[in-house]
This record gives sequence, C-alpha cells and structure tokens, in this order.
Amino acid sequence: MKLLLTGARIIDPAQNIDSRMDIFLEDGKIAKIGTDISKSLKSKSSEKITKIIDLTGMIIVPGLIDMHTHLREPGFEYKETIASGVAAAVAGGFTSIACMPNSNPVNDNRSTTEFIRRKAAQAALANVYPIGAISKDSAGVKLTEFWDLKEAGIVALSDDGKPVMDAALMRRAMEYGFSLQLPVISHCEDTNLSGGGLMNEGYYSTILGLSGIPGIAEEAMVARDILIAEFTKTSIHIAHVSTAGSVHLIRDAKKRGLKVTAETAPHYFTLTDESLQSYDTNFKVNPPLRSEQDLKAIKEGLADSTIDVIACDHAPHGRTDKEVEFEYAANGISGLETSLALSLNLILDKTLNWPELIAKMSTNPARILNLPKGTLEAGADADITVIDPLLQWTVDLQTFRSRGKNSPFNGRRMQGKAVLTIVGGEIKYDGR
Ligand code: DOR
Ligand code: ZN
Repeated sequence: MKLLLTGARIIDPAQNIDSRMDIFLEDGKIAKIGTDISKSLKSKSSEKITKIIDLTGMIIVPGLIDMHTHLREPGFEYKETIASGVAAAVAGGFTSIACMPNSNPVNDNRSTTEFIRRKAAQAALANVYPIGAISKDSAGVKLTEFWDLKEAGIVALSDDGKPVMDAALMRRAMEYGFSLQLPVISHCEDTNLSGGGLMNEGYYSTILGLSGIPGIAEEAMVARDILIAEFTKTSIHIAHVSTAGSVHLIRDAKKRGLKVTAETAPHYFTLTDESLQSYDTNFKVNPPLRSEQDLKAIKEGLADSTIDVIACDHAPHGRTDKEVEFEYAANGISGLETSLALSLNLILDKTLNWPELIAKMSTNPARILNLPKGTLEAGADADITVIDPLLQWTVDLQTFRSRGKNSPFNGRRMQGKAVLTIVGGEIKYDGR
C-alpha cells in the first residue's frame, strides 16, 4: 500500500519538525517527508500513489506509544483480551503499547511472552511489547530468567500492580536488568505504609471515613529506588507518579545526573481525591487520586521535564470487579480511549506545547524502552497518528472498544481526538 498524506501540520519532536508538509508511505515505511513531495511523486510513474488523503486542519504525529497498559489475557479475558485491548489502543491513537505482566499466569516466563506476542500478531492492530515480571509470579521473592525473557521478546521488567518490597532483590534486578538493557519499571508503594488504604490519606479520607494511603507510601520507595540506581550506577523508571513529594525526589535525582525517568497518568493531572465523595468505584485507582497540591506539582513536573512520559495505566475491569462495596472494588481506570484527549488539555491550559506533549506520548517512551519507533524520519516504520485538534466529542462508555467500561470520564466533553491511526503503513483505525 502506498499512501500520500497531504495538508496536515506535522509535528515530530525527534527531528524538531513542526510545519506543514507531506508524508509518503510505502511498504510499511515512511518513504519521504517534505514540503513539495506531492508534486514530484505525481509526475513519477514509478512511484504511483494508490491513495491520497487530504488532512488539512489535522495534526500528524509519530504513532503514540502507551508504555503502561494492562491487557488481561491470559487469565482475565472477561476484563480485556489482547484483541480488545489493541482495538482500544488504535481507537485511542496508540500504534504501540507495552503490556504489564500481571496476567494469570503472570508473564514471568518465555511461553507466556510468546503467547502474548502471538495473540497480538493475530489481532494485527497495534504493536504489543510485553513487559516481563521482575520476580516469579511477581511474588517478590525470586528473580525471573531475565535473559530468557529478553530472547522471547520482552522490552522491560516490572512487577507492576505490586511493588518489589525487598530492596536487595530490587538491587539485583536493576543490576542484571541494566546489563541486559532491560529497563526496570518500578511500581513504588511501601505496602507497610499503604496497607489496607482505599484512597489518598488527607482531608477527604478523614471526612469520608475511608482508610488512607499516605503520599509517603509512594515517596519512600521512589527515594529507595533512586538510591539503588545511584549506588549501582544503573537506571530506574518510576511508574505512575502521583505525589508532589515524588516529583521533588525525581527532579533532584535528575539534577544530580542520575539515570532516572518517570511517567504519570492522565488521571493524576485531571482529578483529585475530592471526586471520591461520590463513592464511585470508577475513581478507585492505585496509586490513589491525590490532592490539589499534588496535581499542581505533577503539572509542574511535566512542564519542566521531571516527568518524561504520559502513560495511561490502562486497567480494564469487569462489572463484577467494580460494582461492589468501595472496600472490595478493584483499582484501575480503562484509559486508552481517553488518554489523548485528557492529555491535550495540557496544551489548552498551557502546561505543555505540542512538541512537548508528543515527546511524552511517543518519542520518550520509545527511547526509554529502546523501541525503533517514535519518529517520522524517512526509513522509519510508518506508525502514524492523525489528530483532529478541534473535534468536540463526549466520552461514551458504550462506544469503548475496550471490554473495560470502568472510566470516571463517562459523559465528559472533550476536545481533540485521534481520527486516523496507521500502523506499519496500514490504516488500523479510521474515525473520520
Ligand atoms: O489501579 C491500578 N490497577 N494500579 C495498579 O497498580 C494495577 C492496576 C491493575 O492491574 O488493575
Ligand atoms: Zn502500578
């Protein structure tokens, strides 16, 4: 398939491009990008174009990458399958996702990694990069076979959903992971401090009578992992940063030249613990929604590059997981189909400009995971997201491709949406 995309504003932070250009796709790759290629191509018969798409008013960016997604297969197919997860991904504008290992069985072995890759290849929508478990069954006791998992195709290591409480085990994971170029992604939560908590510890937990999870439960482990990275001269990626204290610790570590990277999720710069007054379990997530001051600090961390990545922590659940008493409800938000629009609010409120946002949703996750993605350079894979920045729409759970209908954003008015998602030169989602 040969495809010529014309008329759009092209933003590629990897090449410092932000201008109106054409882009020509051939054999799954970006063949040409430039200002006058439509004329030159039309005159050359050898490069016959099969399709020209006029994208005037649209924005073309390198395919978005979500580096923190929970696909529930194998084991929890009623929450999400790999097929429904990648359908949600492309509908949300994501051409690649990295999936966390907390399936059943946990992705702590070669055959599970291979299974995920096979299912993803069959679905043939978004690229799926499995993340392998740090410890067997993510139980935090014995390390997995990192080399074997890497050969099977994992791109990173994490016990996400659970923290690695044993600092010595984390030290070894970071040392071995670093030597194998497998980034370690840390779910930072000291469970002795968070234990039994249902929401952020603060004013609202007090008036609602729900047990609290203090910010320090996250920050104590962020500090620990930064110290381990410094001591062992390795790197660490901090998942779903939710507190002002974590932002300060990461900012300071970066200033000291340590190899620390971090991500946050849209809900942490959109919602606060005030929402929990509804007792709606769709607001229950781990780490929990925090205070107004934390939200402000997250935005500052995004603005000054303390936080490198926006990843939605897509955590689909079934009705039976969420429609129960608050205490028993599962944590998580089905995020892939709202992540881009919520993140575009950061442009509207002037926290970020366009290239900065796209860097956090494509270029930076590609760099952190060592993926050959995240750019529109000639020769690169033709993974492209086309965004209509002015499209007004309303979130409607019933239209979600994801099986997880657990979103606190149902009914919310949004501005900006992915209207075309191209993976390997093929149109995988067309919402125009
Ligand atoms: O809210 C969350 N949901 N946080 C996690 O750490 C795990 C995730 C899940 O797997 O549902
Ligand atoms: Zn997590």
